Amino acid sequence: MAPNPDIVHLKSSDSESHSSFVPVEPFEIIVFGGTGDLARRKLLPALYHRFCDNQIPGKSRIVGVSRSQKSQDEYVETIKSAYNEFSGDEPLDPASWGKFSNLLDYHSIDVGAKDADWKGLQSKLSKSDKITRVFYLAVPPFLYADISQGLKDAGLVTPNSRVVLEKPLGTDYESAREINAGVAKVFEENNIYRIDHYLGKETVQNLLVLRFGNILLEPLWSHSAIDHIQITAAENIGVGGRGSYYDGAGALRDMVQNHLLQLLCLTAMEAPASLDADDVRTEKLKVLRALRPLTAETVKSETVRGQYARGRSNDEPVQDYLTDVGADESATETFVAIKAHIDNWRWAGVPIYLRTGKRMPERVSEIVVQFKSVPHSVFGRDTQLNPNRMVIRVQPDEAVRLWLEIKEPGAGGLRLKTLPLNLTYADNFTVRYPDAYERLLMDVVRGNLSLFMRRDEVEEAWKWVDQIHAAWVQVEQSLELYPAGQAGPREAHDLINSDQREWA
Ligand code: BG6
Repeated sequence: MAPNPDIVHLKSSDSESHSSFVPVEPFEIIVFGGTGDLARRKLLPALYHRFCDNQIPGKSRIVGVSRSQKSQDEYVETIKSAYNEFSGDEPLDPASWGKFSNLLDYHSIDVGAKDADWKGLQSKLSKSDKITRVFYLAVPPFLYADISQGLKDAGLVTPNSRVVLEKPLGTDYESAREINAGVAKVFEENNIYRIDHYLGKETVQNLLVLRFGNILLEPLWSHSAIDHIQITAAENIGVGGRGSYYDGAGALRDMVQNHLLQLLCLTAMEAPASLDADDVRTEKLKVLRALRPLTAETVKSETVRGQYARGRSNDEPVQDYLTDVGADESATETFVAIKAHIDNWRWAGVPIYLRTGKRMPERVSEIVVQFKSVPHSVFGRDTQLNPNRMVIRVQPDEAVRLWLEIKEPGAGGLRLKTLPLNLTYADNFTVRYPDAYERLLMDVVRGNLSLFMRRDEVEEAWKWVDQIHAAWVQVEQSLELYPAGQAGPREAHDLINSDQREWA
């Protein structure tokens, strides 16, 4: 295996920040949906940060594309004011911004129109075939295939072109398959980057290091020592201005199909032979294939759907989901809890409880690995021992905590206490954590597919999610209301409590 220049081992005593950015060759990125929410909040700020760290050379081009008519100056202003609005804790540096804005350009195009101005777009791009060209499609997925074809017909797809597809990729297996097939007519699979931004998060990447860089965990990482696993992605926000998209999607499609299943795969997969994209993705695919389908017989007892009602968030009253999306009625779930099973040797009999919701008490994403009790207590029957637990806090307050039983020091009897080995990022690292999109965008430019989803992975995840949807429809699964600011409906607690377990 050739050495990977990106992988370095540091001394434990070394407390310096070692962020070093490998500069990339000049490239051009064309952002469809260039004035949209994602571009303004995430993509352009991410590119700006990479530019400030000297990773992006000044000869690169960033072309925003959308329907509205704008001059280049107006576009620069749009991006600047969005940056100031959304990235308040890292103010713009005027000098760097001045240089960065020279990279920005804008082109107005109605991609759905027959006479779409692809030629005009061509005039904004390099004449050379050699430069890496990235088409970032931050637009509704039903446009992915048409835009790809439009680009091809206009001769804009060079041998060095890549396309980035934002999630959600379709709304079910069939639509995902169609989109993938449409895009595949233009781009080879190894030039298609399907984004799940959770994979760009520091703590999610750390899962691979934690699991496969340490011998300690592996012998315990199975049904022999693990009782169950919980994966939670809770948000305190509501659906904000995304009501029209969200009401057609719901929590299962918006969060479980991608982010939660990716966390599950990284937690449960076998060790890949290397970190090469296909080695990692093949192992993740095996987990998805081993997920037990939920059926009309099991879906009632193993899933809960909820929707937030009026309540409080951060001590302020907040309105219900229906008011947020401006609907009189809606059966869309903003919360879902699922008891999943992976039917393979390693995970036989170990339930994996998944939970995600909007308007929960706080924003927390974490993976809790609950170990089994010791087989026999030498401390006597009346002494309660808490089984070990490992908590991988994905965000915020990134940390890994391993809860152990410890003797409290001091004279007298033997007093036991449960305390964590506490590895917080804040105490150990001084480095700024780049936003997930910073890492992912530069990986696209560098041609590194490891943190992107392969076609078969996405389609397999849809198959599992589709079965849940179909079963919900078949059994007319009820929608439980929960007051905004609470940890989902009571039924979500019943789901796990009925197994004599509780949410961490
Ligand atoms: C997106 C979902 O993919 O992830 C949103 O569409 C959700 O509904 C968001 O709010 C959560 O991402 P993060 O990085 O804030 O946890």
